[in-house]
Amino acid sequence: MIINIIEEKLQKVLDNLGYEMPAKIIVSNRKDLCDYQFDGSFSYAKVLHKSPIEISETIVKMWESIYKEDTSLKKIEAVKPGFINFTLSDEFINETLNKMNEEPKFGIKMPKSETIVIDYGGPNIAKPLHVGHLRSAIVGESIKRILEYCGHNVISDVHLGDYGLQIGQVIYGLKKENIELEDITIDILDRIYPSMSALCKSDESVKEECARITKELQDGNAEYHKYFKRIKELSSKDIKRIYDYLDVHFDYWYGEADAYKYIPKLTEELETKKILETSEGARIVNVIKESDDLEVPPLIYQKQNGAYLYGTTDLATIYQRIEDYHPNRILYVTDLRQALHFKQVFRVCEKLGYTKNTTFEHLGFGTVNGSDGKPYKTRAGSAPKLDSLFKETKEAFLVSNPKNDEMDESDLDILVNAIIKFADLQNNREKDYIFDINKFSTVVGKTGPYILYTYLRINSILEKEEYSILRLNKEVYNETDRCLRIKLLELENTLKYSLDTRLPSVLANYLYEICVNMNAFYEKNHINNLEDKNKKENWLFLLNLANKILKEMLDLLSIKIPKKM
Ligand code: ARG
Repeated sequence: MIINIIEEKLQKVLDNLGYEMPAKIIVSNRKDLCDYQFDGSFSYAKVLHKSPIEISETIVKMWESIYKEDTSLKKIEAVKPGFINFTLSDEFINETLNKMNEEPKFGIKMPKSETIVIDYGGPNIAKPLHVGHLRSAIVGESIKRILEYCGHNVISDVHLGDYGLQIGQVIYGLKKENIELEDITIDILDRIYPSMSALCKSDESVKEECARITKELQDGNAEYHKYFKRIKELSSKDIKRIYDYLDVHFDYWYGEADAYKYIPKLTEELETKKILETSEGARIVNVIKESDDLEVPPLIYQKQNGAYLYGTTDLATIYQRIEDYHPNRILYVTDLRQALHFKQVFRVCEKLGYTKNTTFEHLGFGTVNGSDGKPYKTRAGSAPKLDSLFKETKEAFLVSNPKNDEMDESDLDILVNAIIKFADLQNNREKDYIFDINKFSTVVGKTGPYILYTYLRINSILEKEEYSILRLNKEVYNETDRCLRIKLLELENTLKYSLDTRLPSVLANYLYEICVNMNAFYEKNHINNLEDKNKKENWLFLLNLANKILKEMLDLLSIKIPKKM
């Protein structure tokens, strides 16, 4: 908001001068010199054949003549070799903070509301959830919350992988061991899937048999369907339990199986629009474009044996979503390695004409690695159950913070969530990252516990001390104070950038920076025994606003605040 206001003003100055350059300013990292900086004069120097400093001086002169009455800046100056430095006036800073404090959602101007479907989580039933699924849940939940906060009508769907080969494998395994329907338990499923999956790799005939079972299930075999129902029921319950622990919630629990009833209508549409082709007995859609650097292979819609694939169910699900919700957008939060799959699916949508009214986005993420740089494994073993990850995280937190032994169980769970989520969300989702359980469990550094500790520390002062002012005065008292205020002013821009890029990491890093500023402020300014009552009240007011922002934004990362730690 602040940046935009200054940019708009600067743009008018540049236009007046006939300078064809964008008024792009950046937040200064030398807060002692200025709050914001403009460096456009450097690149424009070649155009005008003048030195950057001359250009900057001309701009500043023009600014001063246009904005004589303007009170938003304390200082604007051209400095060698050609920057323009902007320093906000105390009055303007505080007026803006007052507005943020008074208005709901800090007075942020929200974009035009859209209906957005978000597809995340995507666990496969009958297989234990692994760390990869954790990322989709954490990143997806945060993107969902940011979209909702910004006023969009968001519909979330977990899109269970419930009709793939793993079902055939598990049914095969259960039957082989003569396990009756009612005797199946989640532990049995957790044991059977890995062993069957291994067997299929070594024994081609078992693999074929499992594929046959899967196909017959999809074609409506009643007996297999009973197994499927039972497996799905047990597995979904376990998945829900884990998502509940993570405070991750979906509007719909549809799965691939639910998409099957849309396949006939979809096939008909593909046929009328002459999009399907036959190749070696399979039905495919060619999605090559001339502009492609790398060849995009066709989407296989139906295999020679009549079976449908991952792409088919995704397309049928899109059919359902458009019919039911008429969304402006559909977002998918999955592993980056699925990028090609979504490219194919989206291109089929383009051919169908669906992209006219609906925008499709694949939001990919990288891998969670262990300290050895390989995909993360818990101590418990190769197919890490998330339960053991939670348990190990709790232990690590208690080891590095022994006095927290007295924390109650629900607060500890909040901490486990904060540790795991903040470790993840501080990274650009497209990057791999190393989950170092010990590093992320401490209260120092860029960690969840650090953020929560900062909040609680400030909160305890606010609970002890009273203040009665309703607005900030005109004054900013010192350097750390100023830094904190300016940081809070960046909220709107940060949130919007995080929204537009679908990067919760932008928000997560901002919250960390707020905390760094709060702690620096707190170390420097001893509020408790301050004589100057007016100053004290202003500072309490400011800290209260900072904590309010922290809490509301932490919720967008689905991080809760413990009672104490
Ligand atoms: N079940 C899939 C997997 O484990 C992820 C599903 C993602 N969503 C989708 N609509 N394809 O890889």
